[in-house]
Amino acid sequence: MNREKTDKYYIKRAIELGRKGANMTSPNPRVGCVLVKSSRVLGEGFHRRFGGAHAEAEAIRQAGDDVSGSTAYISLEPCTHHGKTPPCAELLMKSGVSRVVFAVEDPGLETPARGVLEKAGISVTSGVCDEEARELIRDYLKVASGEGPLITLKAASTLDGKTAAFTGKSRWISSRSSRESAMRLRGTHDAILVGAKTVTADNPRLTYRLEDPPAKQPLRVIIDGALSTDPAARAAGEGSLLITSGKMAGTAKAEEFRRLGSKVVAAETFGGVIPAAEILGILQGRGVLSVLVEGGGETVWEFVRQGKIDRVVFFYAPLILGGSGAPTPCGGKGFSSPAEGLNLENLRVSHSGRDILVEADVAALEKREEEECLQV
Ligand SMILES: NC(=O)c1ccc[n+]([C@@H]2O[C@H](COP(=O)([O-])OP(=O)(O)OC[C@H]3O[C@@H](n4cnc5c(N)ncnc54)[C@H](OP(=O)(O)O)[C@@H]3O)[C@@H](O)[C@H]2O)c1
Repeated sequence: MNREKTDKYYIKRAIELGRKGANMTSPNPRVGCVLVKSSRVLGEGFHRRFGGAHAEAEAIRQAGDDVSGSTAYISLEPCTHHGKTPPCAELLMKSGVSRVVFAVEDPGLETPARGVLEKAGISVTSGVCDEEARELIRDYLKVASGEGPLITLKAASTLDGKTAAFTGKSRWISSRSSRESAMRLRGTHDAILVGAKTVTADNPRLTYRLEDPPAKQPLRVIIDGALSTDPAARAAGEGSLLITSGKMAGTAKAEEFRRLGSKVVAAETFGGVIPAAEILGILQGRGVLSVLVEGGGETVWEFVRQGKIDRVVFFYAPLILGGSGAPTPCGGKGFSSPAEGLNLENLRVSHSGRDILVEADVAALEKREEEECLQV
């Protein structure tokens, strides 16, 4: 393999390792590192949890500390500051690494690593598999750019677009394998967010319950302006956050939630609606980098209306429920014309058990305008 191919190969491995950090590292990014000398992997590591060793330190430790003359492949630029752990750039220098290859530049660094490393005689290559590595830490990069947490909208509907029957019954629309994928998605997000009516209708637990659970359960967030949720609901209690109006946050019912372990915070409301930006501000203040919005339609509409969704994951079951009043993934008033709607791009379509899975990114505004120009 030539050098370019070798760099890509090991950076891809570093990205794969970084992925194992799941939702454990926030507000830090997921990072992976591989140390290689003469085509032999000396050690591998990834950032396992916030406050724990960084990927580089893990890889050096696994290599048994003698890594002189090796190349460090890292999915993110090594840090240069003292945080909860010493700077990784310094560690790489001290350990005698002779070359550093990293994928993405870290916008959170005051001092870029390149200059620091090169001054110490270490050769540096950056930007390898940049796009793939950016995807790994899309949430971290979005927060670092001042745009708030990364929002994923997840829904399961019938082929005719219903998320429940007109009776409100929604169990089960999607297949077991789709529900497992949706659960896996929970394990990669810091917070799971639903509206009060979904809690009342479905009584979901909003937890991650696969065999290899991350040690950190996502924060369970219920948006409940009128505080209509039953304090005994499964999604409430320890590890949950209810966002409600200022009026309701001081009531006896709010106190009951608090007594049972929930956090209840007040948000500003406008005509009874808590703006999505207000919700996201509260979550970011709690170190949340990524939010999985699981419905229902009324809750989703506020995020869609405000242009706060970044990507969507939709499961379509081979089922037709009908019912003009049956809920759909996105309710509310709706946009007044297709030209106003939320455009998606990078569509990925696959099968999930008997269902169809559609994943997509919300299109950047410029792209939508470009598309419109091309129309006759
Ligand atoms: N298949 C699926 O993937 C799926 C997923 C989720 C839900 N569902 C189904 O969807 C149905 C429920 O959806 P829904 O649209 O009726 O209700 P919803 O979105 O779950 O809840 C709406 C309620 O949440 C509160 N809320 C949400 N956003 C708010 C905001 N920005 N500001 C203030 N309050 C806010 C309000 O509660 P207050 O009344 O307290 O003000 C509002 O009445 C159920 O039948 C459920 O089974 C299906």
